[in-house]
Amino acid sequence: MSEKPVSSGGAPATSAAESMETIVSLAKRRGIIFPSSEIYGGLNGFFDYGPLGAEIKRNIRNAWWQDMVHRRDDIVGLETSIIMHPKVWEASGHVEGFTDPMVDCKVSKQRFRADQLFFSPVVVTAEDGTTSTVAYVSALEGDDTAGELQKKAEELKRKKAIRGTLVPVMAKDITEAAPEEIPLIPSPATGEPGSLTPPRAFNLMFSTHVGALADASSVAYLRPETAQGMFVDFKSVVDTGRVKLPFGIAQVGKSFRNEITPRNFIFRSREFEQMEMEYFIHPDADWFACHESWLQWCQDWLVSIGIPREQLSLHEHPKEKLAFYSRRTVDIMFKYPFGVQELWGIAARSDYDLKQHAKHSGKPMEMFDEATKQKFVPHVIEPAVGVDRILLAVLVSAYYEDVVEGEKRTVLRLHPRIAPYKVGVFPLLKNKPQLVERAQALYKRLKRRWNVFYDEAGAIGRRYRRQDEIGTPWCVTIDFDTVEKDGTFTIRDRDTLQQKRISEAELIAFLDEKVD
Ligand code: GAP
Repeated sequence: MSEKPVSSGGAPATSAAESMETIVSLAKRRGIIFPSSEIYGGLNGFFDYGPLGAEIKRNIRNAWWQDMVHRRDDIVGLETSIIMHPKVWEASGHVEGFTDPMVDCKVSKQRFRADQLFFSPVVVTAEDGTTSTVAYVSALEGDDTAGELQKKAEELKRKKAIRGTLVPVMAKDITEAAPEEIPLIPSPATGEPGSLTPPRAFNLMFSTHVGALADASSVAYLRPETAQGMFVDFKSVVDTGRVKLPFGIAQVGKSFRNEITPRNFIFRSREFEQMEMEYFIHPDADWFACHESWLQWCQDWLVSIGIPREQLSLHEHPKEKLAFYSRRTVDIMFKYPFGVQELWGIAARSDYDLKQHAKHSGKPMEMFDEATKQKFVPHVIEPAVGVDRILLAVLVSAYYEDVVEGEKRTVLRLHPRIAPYKVGVFPLLKNKPQLVERAQALYKRLKRRWNVFYDEAGAIGRRYRRQDEIGTPWCVTIDFDTVEKDGTFTIRDRDTLQQKRISEAELIAFLDEKVD
C-alpha cells in the first residue's frame, strides 16, 4: 500500500485500489474506460477509452514522446504502418515462433493458456506412512495459485472421504505435466477430469488478407509489436536522418495479439498500444552499461509521472529462458491489485533483428565506421512498454479514499502532467453575471494552453468533489473580491486541500512549471 497522506479533515487517506473492482467501477462511472462494442455485449479483450480515458492516455503518450524524443538529442521518432509485408514477420521469427501454449477443454469449448493453468497431485500419507496420489486439482494463475490448490485439495479430500494426511500441494503449470497426467487433471471450466487436451502452440498474430483475393498469397498480419517497424526502416532513417551512433528510433502505436486468455481489464488485451524504442549501439560498446542506464531511465520516468517507486521491482529473466540472440532482459514489475506483473521490458537484443532483415530482404543493414573504415551491424537495447499497462498502474497508484469535512471522498491523485483536466474553473455563484463572465474569460484564456474544466452547477463543495474524483489537481473560484477588488481568485489544491489567493499571471506561471 502507498504512503498515506493526511487530509485537512484529519482522516488518513487510504489507497483503496487493492481490488480491481474499485478501479473498473471508477473507470466506468467516470467515463475513463468502457468495454468495446458494449451495446452488443462487448468483445473479449477489446476496450474503448471514454472522454477522460482518452485524455489520460494521450497525456501518457505525449509525456513519453516529449521525454524520449523531443528532450533528447539522440532519439528520433517514427510512425510505421500496422500491416507490413508478411516477410517482415517471417524474418523476425513471429510466423514460426510467436506462440503461447494452449489447452482446450473439449466439453466447455473454453481455451486456456497452458502456462497460466496450474495443477497439483493430491497426495495423502496413510497411517503406515505410505504416500499415494489420489487425485489432481487445478487452478488458474491469479487465483493465488498455491493457496487455491491447497483449498481445493482439502475440499476434495473431504468430499471423497479420503483418509490420511494431505501432503502440502505444489503448484506446477500444465506445460510441466507428464502426458499421462493430463487426462487426470480437472478442467477449471467443468471441475471434471478428462476433457483437457495436451498443450499445443497457438500463434498470437491476427491475420487478414490484403486486396480482393482472399487466398494464401494475400495473407498479411496485424503487427504484434511496433518494434519491427524500426528495424525495417533502419536504413532509411540512417540514410536520411543524419543520425550518429549511439542513437535511438522511437515509435508509439497500436499492436494486436490474439491472446488466448485476455485478463485483468486492460492489462492483457488483444488490441493495445505500445511505446517502444530501439537504441542502436556499436558492437564494441559497453552494452551492459547501456542496458543498465535504460533500466534506470525507465524507472525514473515512471516515478516522474506519479508511480511510487516502492510499487516497482525488477525481474531478471534467467539466462536459460532467454532467446538465443538475447543477452539480457529485465522487466520492470508493478504491484497491480492482481499481483506483481510485468509493466516494461528492457531487452539487449544483440544484432539479431537487423541481421535477420538483411538476410531475408537481401538489403544490407550496415553502418560505416569512419575510424576503422569498416562496415558493421549495430546492436540494440530495446525498452518496450504498453500505454494501457502504464495507464492501469497510474490509476491504481492515484486512487485514494479519505474523509473531508465529515464526508467520504474518492480522489485520484494523478500527476498534473497526466491528469485529464489541469484546472477546474468555477464562478462562486451562477446567478451573478459579473462572476460568470470573469470565470468564463479565465476559462477561455487557460483553455488555449491546457485542458481545463468549467463548472457552475451546484455548491462549491460538490464541484470540488467532482473534480477530485477525476484527478483535477487544482480548482479556482472567482468570487466578489476577484471582480470588485484586486482580480485575484482562490486556488484550492486537490491533495493538501489548502487554499490561497493568486493572480492570473501567477496561475499561468504556476501551471507552466507544474504541468509542462
Ligand atoms: N518488442 C518487444 C515486445 O513487444 P513484449 O514484452 O511482448 O515485448 C512489450 O511487449 C510491452 O507491451 C509489455 O511489457 C507490456 O507493457 C505491453 N504488452 C504486451 N502484451 C500486451 C497485451 N496483450 N496487452 C497489453 N499490453 C501488452
